[in-house]
Amino acid sequence: MSNEILNTVLFSSPRTDGFTANVLKKFFPRLDDFNFINCFNMKISPCIDCRFCKEHKKCAFDDDMSKIYQLLENSKFLIVASPIYCLSFPVPLKAILERTQVYYYHKNTKEYKKFAFLITSSGSSDELGAFVAENQIRSLCGVTGFEFMGSMSFFGTDSKTIVSGSD
Ligand SMILES: Cc1cc2nc3c(=O)[nH]c(=O)nc-3n(C[C@H](O)[C@H](O)[C@H](O)COP(=O)(O)O)c2cc1C
Repeated sequence: MSNEILNTVLFSSPRTDGFTANVLKKFFPRLDDFNFINCFNMKISPCIDCRFCKEHKKCAFDDDMSKIYQLLENSKFLIVASPIYCLSFPVPLKAILERTQVYYYHKNTKEYKKFAFLITSSGSSDELGAFVAENQIRSLCGVTGFEFMGSMSFFGTDSKTIVSGSD
């Protein structure tokens, strides 16, 4: 996969025909062009802050995160699509974000432009979770070389009422 340029979707809902999945399909109908990662199908340990990556520029664990590292490093376009759980991302996606700690020690950059876009859905009208999630992805972009293009945040999904979208 070394120099191949890819597009990736990090999708993080256990409901593969839920609100987030349907928004994703509606706005990005050509998902066949993407590496589609369902975070809930990944076996990824949480970061244990062993600091191996600080010295070795790679993670001490060898699990499904190896594939995500490759995709983050080689993708030109990244879409993160996720519901909000407990004012943040669901655990599988949160584990992925924690495992990007290696890039906070060793920033990943590319000579070409890389773009990232975020979709979140919140069951309630509380905007805090979407705000936190967006800042987590902005932080990821800062160390992986993606330019953050913007987000669409949907609220009140549990009552099937879309309160607002943004950007
Ligand atoms: C474990 C859990 C935690 C949740 N936490 C929040 C929350 O903090 N704020 C919120 O607005 N909605 C919360 N929700 C509701 C989901 O964000 C909402 O149902 C979402 O639209 C589900 O998207 P999906 O159909 O794509 O899975 C939570 C749902 C679950 C199952």
